[in-house]
Amino acid sequence: MTQEYFNYINGKWQVSRAGRTFEDLNPANKTDIIGRFPRSDASDVDAAVQAARVHYPRWHRVPAPRRAEIMFRAAEIMVRRKDELARAMTREMGKVLQEASGDVQEAIDMTYYIAGEGRRLFGQTTPSELPDKFAMSVRVPIGVAAAITPWNFPLAIPTWKLIPALVAGNTVVFKPAEDTPLMAQRLVEILLEAGLPEGVLNLVQGIGEEAGVALVAHPDVKVVSFTGSSETGREVAKVCAEHYKKVALEMGGKNPIIVMDDADLDLALEGAVWGAFGTTGQRCTATSRLIVHRAVRREFTDRFVERAQQLRLGDGLLPTTDVGPLINEAQLRRVHSYTEIARQEGAKILTGGYIYTEGDCAKGLFYAPTIFAEVTPDMRIAQEEIFGPCPAIMEVGSLEEAIDVANSTTYGLSSAIYTRDVNKAFIALRELEAGITYVNSSTIGAEVHLPFGGVKHTGNGHREGSQTVLDVFTEWKTLYIDYSGRLQKAQIDVG
Ligand code: UN1
Repeated sequence: MTQEYFNYINGKWQVSRAGRTFEDLNPANKTDIIGRFPRSDASDVDAAVQAARVHYPRWHRVPAPRRAEIMFRAAEIMVRRKDELARAMTREMGKVLQEASGDVQEAIDMTYYIAGEGRRLFGQTTPSELPDKFAMSVRVPIGVAAAITPWNFPLAIPTWKLIPALVAGNTVVFKPAEDTPLMAQRLVEILLEAGLPEGVLNLVQGIGEEAGVALVAHPDVKVVSFTGSSETGREVAKVCAEHYKKVALEMGGKNPIIVMDDADLDLALEGAVWGAFGTTGQRCTATSRLIVHRAVRREFTDRFVERAQQLRLGDGLLPTTDVGPLINEAQLRRVHSYTEIARQEGAKILTGGYIYTEGDCAKGLFYAPTIFAEVTPDMRIAQEEIFGPCPAIMEVGSLEEAIDVANSTTYGLSSAIYTRDVNKAFIALRELEAGITYVNSSTIGAEVHLPFGGVKHTGNGHREGSQTVLDVFTEWKTLYIDYSGRLQKAQIDVG
């Protein structure tokens, strides 16, 4: 019997109003059905938003440190259950166990970190220009927040949104990706066990085009936080514009590593392999372009290909596996289509380029680690986010050219340079158009207490993580208290 799961709306676990469901499959073994989840529509979304709206006045009056204590307890539960959560994540999403544990750890880190914000949420106090008048600003919650999250970090990214939204005093409707509903279910259960009152967080499972669209368009949702593709993000922003909603978007990447001629090549190779093939290339921070100086291009390429060929594909729960499956059939087809595009564009496919079906991998959705070479900046494989294990190698002759090539896409999330020359490092830090730049480290590995997000088509000016995430989930309110007992006029009572 397939286990059945429910939506969580207004404090009750419930089926979708239309009674429809969808299945959650293990991408390493499609015959392994993880569960059946509600396929929600606009009426489920409406019930969830109404619950969040009704519970908002009570929740936002709970002192922030008290709200944050619930989050702290949720982090403690995740610590206790880390191994079990990681195993369930690998089964549901496919990434290898070590990386799934990292995802759970990132959720723990974020939850503890933002729990601390419950006792800060700092505003400003500043002197008034008038006598006997006091001036300050405070953060206030916004109302009902919608969190729409992707499948590639099925526990971490939901905590990036839910925890700050809740600590700041908003109520939330959470619509997770349809590929990882179980991790969302677990997170909601953990928050309830930690003491979150009913109605404050509402979970609506389902498909983006149905539940997601209805949630973004709902007039009572006041702020939307979305992580996903740039195409979908633009549609989300358009709908939000119609309703004057605040919207924070975290979208695609085409993240480069620049390898200079003076780089520590061993280190650069480690970073490239980890960045390009970790999580099977399915991170928005994944390394998808290797911009390599001519002088080291041949050696780097040969060694990179050799390393890629050594990677073992398989079920992420097996200790022998280096690279897990892709998330679903559509992604497998999409990734494979880029191999065809690469061929047509005249790039070389040095390794991989095929759907991998050896042994038990035939049961799942595996793609051989693939390397495209002789790639030029105008090619689609150099421009478009593939979200798979297929980095492109591009040759350059100078730092200036490397930076021009790095900046030649519409994306701007992460970036990296390997060099031993401090001057080159600082020029890259200044010139790379990206929200994140690493020196002598790969494009992945962002820490929770620093701002996370990107420029150009990657974002719309917001940052998650750090205290900057509070700017997404709060408004500033400016307070003036005049205790002079007379009418005072700013800008007019001067001199
Ligand atoms: C993502 O790929 O959507 O820096 C997030 C990293 C992780 C977060 C990735 N800490 O790769």
